[in-house]
Amino acid sequence: MRTTIARIDGYQIWDSRGRPTIEVEVELADGTVGRGIAPAGASRGRREAIDLRDGGTTLGGFGVTRALANVNGVIARTLIGHDGTDQAAIDALLTGLDDTPTRATLGGNATIAVSMAVLSASALRAGVPLWKHLSAGRPVRLPLPEIQIFGGGAHAGGRTDLQDLMVMPVEAQSFDEALAMVAEVYRAAGELMRRTGRQFGVADEGGWWPHFDTNEDAIQVLAQAIEAAGFKNGEVMISLDIAASEFYANGRYAPRLGVKEFQSEEWTDVVLGWVSRYPIISIEDPVAEDDDEGMRRITAALNGRIQIVGDDYLTTNARRVLRAVQLEACNAVLLKPNQSGTITDTVAAMDAARAAKWGLIVSARSGETEDTMISHLAVGWNAGQLKVGSFARSERMAKWNECVRIGRALGADAEFAGKAALPIRGSHAVAAGAVELSGFEPKLT
Ligand code: PGA
Ligand code: ZN
Repeated sequence: MRTTIARIDGYQIWDSRGRPTIEVEVELADGTVGRGIAPAGASRGRREAIDLRDGGTTLGGFGVTRALANVNGVIARTLIGHDGTDQAAIDALLTGLDDTPTRATLGGNATIAVSMAVLSASALRAGVPLWKHLSAGRPVRLPLPEIQIFGGGAHAGGRTDLQDLMVMPVEAQSFDEALAMVAEVYRAAGELMRRTGRQFGVADEGGWWPHFDTNEDAIQVLAQAIEAAGFKNGEVMISLDIAASEFYANGRYAPRLGVKEFQSEEWTDVVLGWVSRYPIISIEDPVAEDDDEGMRRITAALNGRIQIVGDDYLTTNARRVLRAVQLEACNAVLLKPNQSGTITDTVAAMDAARAAKWGLIVSARSGETEDTMISHLAVGWNAGQLKVGSFARSERMAKWNECVRIGRALGADAEFAGKAALPIRGSHAVAAGAVELSGFEPKLT
């Protein structure tokens, strides 16, 4: 068979944090070569696929020789000779080689790089762009972007507790307009930081390095930047990734910038207070990954009004999604292929969420490369939303620019998901409860 896998070759390249990562080439019998690169998270969920590293002192312990040995050893031996265009079968073989729930034996970085390389090879063999290969004739839309303005949390030395302070240009009519709107906010936020003597470069995903006295100050300055960029009445709204597991221990939330510790219910009140005072359209991981009651409380209060996203809470796992649907614990899933460890398992998580009419956000990681596969996944799967960090640093811009190119290839057929991609009723009802933006005086002392 011309589509059988003839060669698998894994080797080390370097990611956006200057750390080693895995690139894999998969060659089919007809000579087609596909590549896949493993991204890496810094704030990871407890249940996500393990990022297998060497440990020790060399390269900070981030070496990937053990994971590469798995790619070039047992994985290559098992997969060579199998049909490289049968993604589900290849991914099932990968899963069969490692029966741990977190791919602890092979490493999720090993399996995802192989799984992505196989996907890439079969698209190349079909002679079409990856997004088109994935859509298989079904309708596609360019995604509503979710773009970081301030980085924080684990991506900025814990400088704020909030990890991602992002915006969503919900009133944009096209993907190109959406990027232009975000570019204005990014620029205005940088200017605001500069004017107040707080511009200290950028964090891991390209968002401005945060320098705020409280977490709420950060939200307030973001709202001010949106206004300074000339946007009114909820045209551009705020999205927060709170990544609350990072400051949760022993049943209590202890934000570094907070004045006290909070029990779950108190902490959810803090989050609900922010939603009532600022134009927030989406919140991710508002509580810790094991705090089901907290997730349910937030969702009961906000469902239908804003998007409530599970990242660490769901870890791109179909069973976790189905459970959360039952619990009514969120209304959107973040889809990070390397959290699940294979393309097929990522699709399973997405399908479970789609069946529940949830929001679907395809997401990169804080450790990235020039790879743009994620943009193709977002379009080809018709997910509707894409999150790849900020609007700076080429490992981020490569993804946004690839969506621009896909839009051009779609031409007149290019449909933009826009705010319809959000799991909310009517026109983002939360805007009515948001603060009046003019006259904001953030505490910048
Ligand atoms: P990570 O962060 O890639 O460091 O996990 C991204 C996120 O939490 O969404
Ligand atoms: Zn997250």
